Amino acid sequence: MKDRIEQMQTKAQALPRARLGFFPTPLHRLDRLSEQLGVNLYIKRDDLTGMNLFGGNKIRKLEYLMGDIVRQGYDTVLTYGAVQSNHAMQTATACRRLGLHPVLCLNPCSERDARNVRANLLLNRILGAEVHVLDYVPDEPEAQMKRRRQALGRARMDELAREGRRCCELPSGGASAMGSVGYVMGYAELMAQCLALRIAPDYVFSATGTGGTLGGMVGGHLALGDRARVIGIADSPLDDDYEQQSADLCNGALALLGSDARATAADIHVDRGYYAPGYEQPSDIGTRAIHLMARQEGLMLDPVYTGKAFAGLLDWVRQGKVKPGSTVVFWHTGGVSALFADREITGPIGEA
Ligand SMILES: Cc1ncc(COP(=O)(O)O)c(C=O)c1O
Repeated sequence: MKDRIEQMQTKAQALPRARLGFFPTPLHRLDRLSEQLGVNLYIKRDDLTGMNLFGGNKIRKLEYLMGDIVRQGYDTVLTYGAVQSNHAMQTATACRRLGLHPVLCLNPCSERDARNVRANLLLNRILGAEVHVLDYVPDEPEAQMKRRRQALGRARMDELAREGRRCCELPSGGASAMGSVGYVMGYAELMAQCLALRIAPDYVFSATGTGGTLGGMVGGHLALGDRARVIGIADSPLDDDYEQQSADLCNGALALLGSDARATAADIHVDRGYYAPGYEQPSDIGTRAIHLMARQEGLMLDPVYTGKAFAGLLDWVRQGKVKPGSTVVFWHTGGVSALFADREITGPIGEA
């Protein structure tokens, strides 16, 4: 395993990389929850990736994405997401570090008051990002919203080109093969830490959205051949061919790293059972999971991704789908600024 990790690290060195975060992120045991749940529970702290206090999974992706963007000589980066997108905020953060101009095209998930600037939208303001917000259309199909959002972005890119700027377009979530390289290598980082701690995870749980993080983790797992089952807990109603999309991201990343390993959709394990009632909408199980983690371990989860993902992990343990005594890693993917978002997103986390 050690040799395989080193080989992957050598191959990754050939790819352009902007050093943005603080790696390796800590991996540590959650003693009190381990005792209560009857498993050996560890947490991988990608909430501490940096660059600033509001880190998360996107920084690993952005190190490779931005490395490539800088190498190609772009001066502006335009990306997409929901109004409270962590990816959009972290892209703005990375752009500032690298002296690039950040442009964000965002879609509201509900009717919004333009004066109510909180959480990531507030951070985007502080960062001085150029922010464009679509009009909210109630009950609009997601595909149609995405078309409108992209049209907005493309129109702005045309203007930027006329202004003489070199603008690179990044997909929402940084979901691309190059972005997923960050998580293939993140998985190798996790396994190096597990070796040092003399543990071998049976399960690795993570929130999954655009699929690039999970695809990267599965890529790392396939390249290393460890015994863990990597499980993604969905943050939203995902497409029917989501597993294939995530496998494609995985395979693109493995190809960039010169690895022969390949995934099929059957290698991508996603549980869609815990996002209800919807993306960026609070739930009782999510709120309870946030309270449990905070009150037993003093750690913060977020209401959109990690709270629901941890609720999924807890349910798997309680249902016996994770056997007692198993070694389980919960991959904290960040996003904690959402604790300070509107109540429509946070729910009653501040009550009881
Ligand atoms: C905090 C957090 N966790 C998990 C995810 C899911 O990552 P991915 O989009 O790569 O599936 C996101 C994506 O936005 C996120 O912000």
